[in-house]
Amino acid sequence: MSITTGDGRQRVTVQTLAEKKQKHEPIVSLTAYDYATARIADEAGVDLILIGDSLAQVVLGYGSTLPVTMDEMLHHTRIVRRGVRRAFLVADMPFGSYHTGTRKALENAVRFVKDGGAEAVKIEGGSSRVPLVRRMIDAEIPVVGHIGLTPQSVHRMGGYKVQGKTAEAIDTLLRDAVALDNAGVAALVLEGIPREVAIRITAEIATPTIGIGAGPDCDGQILVFHDLVGLTFNPPAKFVRRYCNAGELISGAIQAYRDDVRNGTFPADAESYHLPRGAKPALNEVVETSAVHQK
Ligand code: KIV
Repeated sequence: MSITTGDGRQRVTVQTLAEKKQKHEPIVSLTAYDYATARIADEAGVDLILIGDSLAQVVLGYGSTLPVTMDEMLHHTRIVRRGVRRAFLVADMPFGSYHTGTRKALENAVRFVKDGGAEAVKIEGGSSRVPLVRRMIDAEIPVVGHIGLTPQSVHRMGGYKVQGKTAEAIDTLLRDAVALDNAGVAALVLEGIPREVAIRITAEIATPTIGIGAGPDCDGQILVFHDLVGLTFNPPAKFVRRYCNAGELISGAIQAYRDDVRNGTFPADAESYHLPRGAKPALNEVVETSAVHQK
């Protein structure tokens, strides 16, 4: 039985994602971090919304994803939850929240579902995460995997580098993908890997693959919201397609507002409140009242 939203749309579930792979219907995915943009993305028909730990960089201004905390991720998950009705909602487990023991990882994953309203959690890493994935699924929590360029491994990788370029690295990626597939992940993010490798993984596993910097042949694609709308401050990565320049648009609006305030054209009389007709007190009464308020 399908679950519908209040407005009659069918909600996206783990089953919908699996069906989409079978039917070769691309899974449209996007990150979101706040109510307004989550709601816009959901109403625009995005299938999967991820509260990414990229929150650290694009919203909180950190240089990497490593510093963002469980409490910060949970706070933004609750906010996004309020804006999303149809899309499948995935919360990214931040660095440190699933690395120090299974019990702690499970407790944190439960917080995302119970307190944050997420429908799944995402964790980075390959075969070594399989026991944890199984425990989470046992605890009724769907898991999205993430392999390839995993930003939480930036120090181990020695930078943000495209992965899977040697025969050995390709083999490891394939084995990781198959292991996570067998463990039952609901979807698998493939980040920063050659197109040819993404094609092989996508063909070999039953789990839907969601690419970012992995070419067009994955079962779905994901972008960081701020990259898509042009709200970032550095030149975008090669895989990013900017669909508008929101930074320029917002800056233009703020500059126009600044000028209007400075030259006295904002607010206009039409943007001001007035006393009802006939109830206008004498000007000196108004002056007296405002003088009282100033005391
Ligand atoms: O944090 C994030 O935004 C992500 C996506 C890039 C997949 O993990």
